[in-house]
Amino acid sequence: MHSGVILVCLAGCITIAACNRVYVHPFHLFAYNQSSCEKLEQENQTTGEAKTFIPISIDSKITDEEEILRDRFSSGTQSLDLEGRQMLIYLTELVNILGFRLFAAWKEMHKSETVLLSPTNLFGTLVSFYLGASKDTSSSLQPFLGFPSGGPNCTFKLDGHIVFTSLKAIDSLLLSKGVNIDASKMAFLFVAPGVHLSESFVYDLLPSADSLFVRAVAFSDPAVATEQINSFFNDRISRKGNPVLTTVDAATTLMYASYMHFKGKVKNAFPLADHQDFWIDSNTKVLVPMMSVKGRFEFKHDDVENVLVIKVPLSENDFLLLVQPTHGNTLKKIESTLSFNSYSSFFGNLRSRSVHLTMPKLSIESTYDIQDILAHIQLPNLLGKKSDLSRMSDADIRVGKIVNKVYFELEDCGMDAGQRMDPSGEDVPLEVTLNKPYLLAVYEGGSKVLMALSSVRNPMMSV
Ligand SMILES: *[C@@H]1O[C@H](CO)[C@@H](O)[C@H](O)[C@H]1NC(C)=O
Ligand SMILES: *[C@@H]1O[C@H](CO)[C@@H](O)[C@H](O)[C@H]1NC(C)=O
Ligand SMILES: *[C@@H]1O[C@H](CO)[C@@H](O)[C@H](O)[C@H]1NC(C)=O
Repeated sequence: MHSGVILVCLAGCITIAACNRVYVHPFHLFAYNQSSCEKLEQENQTTGEAKTFIPISIDSKITDEEEILRDRFSSGTQSLDLEGRQMLIYLTELVNILGFRLFAAWKEMHKSETVLLSPTNLFGTLVSFYLGASKDTSSSLQPFLGFPSGGPNCTFKLDGHIVFTSLKAIDSLLLSKGVNIDASKMAFLFVAPGVHLSESFVYDLLPSADSLFVRAVAFSDPAVATEQINSFFNDRISRKGNPVLTTVDAATTLMYASYMHFKGKVKNAFPLADHQDFWIDSNTKVLVPMMSVKGRFEFKHDDVENVLVIKVPLSENDFLLLVQPTHGNTLKKIESTLSFNSYSSFFGNLRSRSVHLTMPKLSIESTYDIQDILAHIQLPNLLGKKSDLSRMSDADIRVGKIVNKVYFELEDCGMDAGQRMDPSGEDVPLEVTLNKPYLLAVYEGGSKVLMALSSVRNPMMSV
């Protein structure tokens, strides 16, 4: 008896010892290491020599080809080593948790509308500001992103470059173009004339998008500045929609905007000839273009949670998760408990089965100011007027707006009814029609990191 207990203990002790040797908390994979800390301290002692980046005016006629601020996504995907995978899993959790938190706030501000938010884009935007922040601002952004608060020395500080490298790996999985995916991502930084930026800050932002534009704009005349920014933005983006900027404060010295366009085609889906009814609520319907697809999909009808869940592949890495309330359940109820855990539970017990799915084509646009969302969750000062952004510039930085614009389209493959494929055959397909409000997520298949999250209340309208 005793020897058995001792054996168990020994085995346990050995495992713990072995784990201790190799286990590194995933946070430390994102923090400065000893040697980068020493380098940082050296740089700190030799201040005053930092190179500056002088933005050209928004009026200047330089062509985009002459711009050097490009960072193409590496095509294809490198396979991740063990450490890379561990980092991806850890980062996914943080991106999704923050995404759900800010999605809840954004949705509360637009209760009855279709809302769309990109957790990966939002996280990247906040990391961009983290890279320019110092002192109190960087130490509050670190835990806001979900990382542990800083510790006794520099090795407990988040290294924004490493986070960007991992986010870029996620982007290259999600946004790599293929037959069924078309995607682009841009970032824009507008600063007041005379504001010189730190060159290293500007270059640090390159991995955040495939093109970065930095321009000087005279915010002192807000009406003109708004018009200039909107037209500059519109000239470059692929889908024109609502203006990115409605107003701006004359005291602004810096504004950030990002744009992401994602267009996915559902494999083997064909368009329905006539528009179909979509019930916004039990009394109101609209006619919308729809598409239809037959095939084997991972699916479940959960009678406890009263949800129907279906997973639709768009490409090798990109998937759609569609969650429709059933049996008197409502989207509002699903939203009210939406979290990292409920999202994970949607994936439980999915089974492959033959489904005939009919759903709306989507063209959803969303423009949100991150400061409005932060104000809504009682954190107006996280990136407010008093923020310390001294790693961006020596000048007095007063952040005007931090805007994310996301454009999401979902389409059929344009096949006509005669060519439609039905690979299933063996069992009778279950009829599923998304004709009332539902939840939609676009995520990366391996990590389940969320590129987009949307409450589709009306497929034709969005904020
Ligand atoms: C420390 O971090 C830097 C930057 O991420 C990296 O280039 C370097 O290899 C790391 N050094 C060690 C000893 O891990
Ligand atoms: C740089 O110097 C400032 C002021 O001396 C100090 O507060 C800060 O912690 C230093 N940063 C690093 C990374 O050593
Ligand atoms: C930072 O703190 C950790 C843990 O207390 C310690 O192991 C490490 O040597 C410290 N690094 C520096 C640069 O002081």
